[in-house]
Amino acid sequence: MKGKFFGIGVGVGDPDLISYKAVKILEKIDYIVLPEAVKGEGSVAFEIAKKFLNEKVQKIFLEFPMIKELEKKIEIRKNNAKIISEYLEKGNNVAFLTIGDPMTYSTYSYVLEYLKAYEVETIAGITSFSCIASRLNIPLVLGNEDLKIISVSKDTDFQKEFENNDNIVFMKISRNLDKIKSEIKKLNYEKNIVLVSNCGKENEEIHYDLGKVEEVPYFSTLIFKKGGFYE
Ligand SMILES: C[S@@+](CC[C@H](N)C(=O)[O-])C[C@H]1O[C@@H](n2cnc3c(N)ncnc32)[C@H](O)[C@@H]1O
Repeated sequence: MKGKFFGIGVGVGDPDLISYKAVKILEKIDYIVLPEAVKGEGSVAFEIAKKFLNEKVQKIFLEFPMIKELEKKIEIRKNNAKIISEYLEKGNNVAFLTIGDPMTYSTYSYVLEYLKAYEVETIAGITSFSCIASRLNIPLVLGNEDLKIISVSKDTDFQKEFENNDNIVFMKISRNLDKIKSEIKKLNYEKNIVLVSNCGKENEEIHYDLGKVEEVPYFSTLIFKKGGFYE
């Protein structure tokens, strides 16, 4: 019999914010896939989930480098999916660990595309922005408001986005921090934003004032609320 493929969201920092369903799978699973952007870099998802894993669990590190060329990216995804399929063919159950939620900007979705022939179960995780909103006791959306989630790039038109949306989650904000800082200042939105880095981890940082923030780590998200925050 072929093995089953699991995609497991482990949240973004606090291991207590992993679902009970995920924990039950992690305790029993024999093989875990840990995506790495750079070979040997280690895995944030593993650090979060490790206390739930059994001692015999085997780690499969797969490299997904952050490169620009789409064709090369697709080739790497296909190769990595093939490696996973070899374990599944032998009857092993394999869990792909993802930070936050597996269906939100996650590498898991890209390999899943090539593994649909197998039995698959995806376990939702708490996204970075849900975690941040609860951590700070701020509602993400209320009443008839809208919410837009943006993966920031060098081309993000911040002014247009601020104009068109009530609430915005800016992910991967480290890619264009200087531009968003100047747009926030220009539009007088200094009191409408919060920036959180490493939410739920020991090195968590929360900034309501961007004035002195020059650089942020990759694991940083900015939330904009046009209606402002509670005082
Ligand atoms: C590849 S995406 C992963 C998103 C993840 N699947 C989720 O559900 O949030 C990486 C981005 O998620 C956000 N992120 C992940 N972990 C975070 C954390 N602990 N604190 C703040 N933002 C985080 C940052 O915007 C980061 O650039």
